[in-house]
Amino acid sequence: MNALTIAVEAAHQAGELILQHFRQPHEIQMKGPADYVTEVDVKAEDAIVHTIRRAFPAHAFLAEEEHKPSQGAEYVWVVDPLDGTRNYIRGIPFFCTSIALVEGGRTVLGVIYDPLRKETFAAEAGKGLRLNGKRVRFTKQTNLENTVVYFGFLPTRHADDRGLSLPLLVHLRPRIEAVRTMGCAALSLAYVACGRLDVACHDHLNAWDMMAGALLIKEVGGIATGFWGKPISVASESIIAASSPSLHAEILSVAREVLKEHRLPTR
Ligand code: IPD
Ligand code: CA
Ligand code: CA
Repeated sequence: MNALTIAVEAAHQAGELILQHFRQPHEIQMKGPADYVTEVDVKAEDAIVHTIRRAFPAHAFLAEEEHKPSQGAEYVWVVDPLDGTRNYIRGIPFFCTSIALVEGGRTVLGVIYDPLRKETFAAEAGKGLRLNGKRVRFTKQTNLENTVVYFGFLPTRHADDRGLSLPLLVHLRPRIEAVRTMGCAALSLAYVACGRLDVACHDHLNAWDMMAGALLIKEVGGIATGFWGKPISVASESIIAASSPSLHAEILSVAREVLKEHRLPTR
């Protein structure tokens, strides 16, 4: 079986587990300020790692809860078993599983699975994006004034004060059509990749939130970079992702104004 088939199988297994426990009582623990983990996050991660490891015993994992790679690993599976844990705990039906495979620093596949809607967004590098097996095609929005832009914000009470999504939202609000924020970064990226959203901006993420989504967007001819314009990598901490390169360029130039205003280096 090829790696994409295994990734989809693992995402579906995690998704079924997540669904079985949705709106049930949970063991909730705090990992940091406003940062939760439940027993379901951990079980879903274990299920994903188990399935992938069976097929690829030599590969490493960078997974949110428990699995970290050794330095210099060639193949790294980047896994968010449950993205949108706060939504999940509160019974808000918006969460997903995100899995990417990074080979020598290059993302070669990405899968984002929404178990509630049974939507599987899957891509292999250079082969386009499929949603439930069907090639994704849509008309791209190129006028900023007609865009729907998702913003994800630095968690409240976070020690770092460089929350840039909020000032970016303030700058962009008069120039765009609508704003969305739904508490699930990976799904926001999948939605950009299939044209439901035009842009997603997040100022505080980890690799597992965005590696799969960034590939999905690339596979439909979109662009994702960090706030500083650098390509997305496992070290990225922010993302501006757009389905069209022209939109991305416009948003990035506004982001530079915001960075200047906040007296942060723009490069
Ligand atoms: C969080 C969600 C949220 C984003 C946070 C992430 P988690 O992931 O994606 O939308 O704003 O920054 O940490 O903790 O639910 O996997
Ligand atoms: Ca996450
Ligand atoms: Ca998570």
